[in-house]
Amino acid sequence: MKSAGSPLTLPLRKVCGYASLLAVCLLPQSAVVSQQPQSNTASATPLHAPPPASVYAGDSACAGCHQTEFQEYQSSPHHHDSAEATRDTVLGNFTPGRNVLRTRNPNLIFAMIKADDGYWQSSVDIAHPDHLTGIAERFDIVIGSGRRGQTSLYWKGDQLYELPVTWWAYTHRWINSPGYPDGQVHFDRPIIPRCLECHTTWFEALDPPNHYERDNMILGIGCEKCHGPGREHVERESSPHPPPPGSPEEAIVNPARLSPDRQMDVCALCHAGVGDSTAPPLSYRPGDVLADYVKITPPPPNVPVDVHGNQVNALERSKCYTSGKMTCATCHDVHQKQEDVDSYSTHCLACHEVQACGRFRVMGEAIRTKCVECHMPEGKSQGLNSHTGGQLLQAELRAHRIAIYPEATAHLAGR
Ligand code: HEC
Ligand code: HEC
Ligand code: HEC
Ligand code: HEC
Ligand code: HEC
Ligand code: HEC
Ligand code: HEC
Repeated sequence: MKSAGSPLTLPLRKVCGYASLLAVCLLPQSAVVSQQPQSNTASATPLHAPPPASVYAGDSACAGCHQTEFQEYQSSPHHHDSAEATRDTVLGNFTPGRNVLRTRNPNLIFAMIKADDGYWQSSVDIAHPDHLTGIAERFDIVIGSGRRGQTSLYWKGDQLYELPVTWWAYTHRWINSPGYPDGQVHFDRPIIPRCLECHTTWFEALDPPNHYERDNMILGIGCEKCHGPGREHVERESSPHPPPPGSPEEAIVNPARLSPDRQMDVCALCHAGVGDSTAPPLSYRPGDVLADYVKITPPPPNVPVDVHGNQVNALERSKCYTSGKMTCATCHDVHQKQEDVDSYSTHCLACHEVQACGRFRVMGEAIRTKCVECHMPEGKSQGLNSHTGGQLLQAELRAHRIAIYPEATAHLAGR
């Protein structure tokens, strides 16, 4: 661990110091190479076209009439999943000494800097006497509520790119952004529309891919992502003669009223892997058949489903799912902050008797609140990970294939 006055950080502060940041660290931009856009060509006729901004009401419009859901939602990770980078949203340690990521390349470090005009990330060639070869870019948009980590994007004209360094909540340190090679300078990873489809509520994609309207993005995952655009519902309910209570409300989607498959689709838009989009981004609306918009191919039966962002395919491999009546809402109320792990057992016990578990004979009542630890153990993600300083860092996520995991059982029994 470096202290604030370490030799490493002193020259850094001299060169990239808060005052002189713009003058010095912004110099050479030429190393930023052009993007390799991924095409999103439509192959099927979409049922819906991407909705215009005018059909959205925004979360605050729901507050007056749905106070409970609105209030609870303010603390949910979905709500905080993306935002403008500000003092209130940017996570990470900017204290000199802790604001540095060393890489496998002894001459290359990254520095994270808090300045009057925002937060900056800069590469620094420490072999160069003036450190003048670095690139610096500003944090413009942050992605990730920080439960696992937070990565940042910057604008270059009307294009968005990912910054090379990510905040890693597990160990409270800076790491190479997932998928970035260790020891190289990359400020050039374009943000494809599918990335924003999963991490924002609405945006206007321009042609070719990775060009966006800058000023009208709706950041955070808002109410209307799962309930569909809501302006018409708000207008009807606010009119002098609102629909009588209990009458069907066609202008808004309540997932609970959809068939189980369509309910799963609402979550699968983002929780079933990237897939192949066959329609323009944002075309899918809750209630639609997701397969008409995004083709998701589950991994073959003998290949384990990676826990990263693919809870749907994993859950679908569980006997509880195939022979029970289950959706994501069986265990999750997405309006709320996540429950404590132990309390999830109550959801298991809605279908199972505690005695049904073979371990009951051995461990008795002690298993009552521990179902999840043995049957949905945490696993290391193959998808959400980083190569940093010669190490592989992997996010730990819950297995959503509910099953018998002998290793997890041995671990718990051994405590
Ligand atoms: C002016 C008050 C008002 C506003 C604003 C409002 N709603 Fe509603 N909403 C209602 C009422 C009243 C109902 C109950 C309709 C019924 O059951 O007849 C309702 C029902 C719902 C339902 C359940 C529909 C169903 O079929 O079960 C959802 C979901 C919903 N609203 C979401 C939203 C969202 C999201 C927003 C913000 C974009 C919003 N509402 C804004 C008054 C409002
Ligand atoms: C990540 C998806 C998601 C988001 C975001 C979301 N909801 Fe919901 N909402 C659901 C689901 C799923 C249900 C049905 C829950 C169930 O099965 O009982 C629901 C149900 C509701 C209902 C009906 C409740 C009832 O008792 O019938 C209302 C009203 C509602 N949501 C309002 C909101 C508001 C307001 C927001 C934003 C502040 C919001 N929701 C954000 C997924 C979401
Ligand atoms: C628009 C994409 C999107 C949709 C739709 C969506 N999610 Fe998510 N969900 C995310 C992202 C992104 C995160 C990570 C949030 C974070 O921590 O930054 C997340 C996080 C979660 C979490 C973890 C919360 C925590 O405490 O870490 C749960 C549980 C979850 N989603 C369930 C659901 C369910 C159930 C549905 C369907 C009703 C749903 N999501 C719909 C994108 C989505
Ligand atoms: C198919 C939807 C999807 C796409 C595409 C996607 N993500 Fe995610 N991302 C998720 C979900 C869901 C999570 C929540 C963790 C999980 O379930 O693995 C997540 C988690 C994250 C997290 C960790 C947040 C936290 O604290 O939990 C970051 C950072 C992130 N994504 C960045 C990105 C970036 C940057 C891109 C595009 C280059 C991207 N993601 C593309 C769905 C997606
Ligand atoms: C909606 C009902 C439902 C819920 C909720 C549910 N299960 Fe199940 N589960 C079933 C059904 C049905 C089966 C298949 C018949 C059986 O083995 O009892 C099953 C099977 C299982 C099996 C045997 C799996 C195998 O591969 O042999 C385990 C273990 C299990 N459940 C544990 C859990 C745990 C732990 C939870 C909570 C995290 C849970 N279940 C939640 C309905 C459910
Ligand atoms: C049988 C109960 C159950 C069902 C059904 C279920 N989950 Fe979960 N989920 C959990 C538990 C338990 C956790 C871990 C909570 C914790 O560690 O705090 C979790 C965690 C998550 C997380 C946080 C990331 C992680 O893996 O720790 C996401 C995202 C998530 N679930 C999404 C979903 C989605 C999407 C569905 C539907 C496909 C779903 N879950 C269905 C029990 C369930
Ligand atoms: C200490 C780990 C552990 C805990 C805690 C635990 N289980 Fe199990 N469970 C197992 C193992 C291991 C098996 C396989 C049978 C055996 O070895 O006894 C099993 C079997 C099962 C089965 C399948 C029975 C069959 O023969 O098909 C169900 C259902 C089940 N558990 C449900 C639960 C539920 C519900 C809880 C929480 C109340 C729970 N388990 C808690 C380890 C555990």
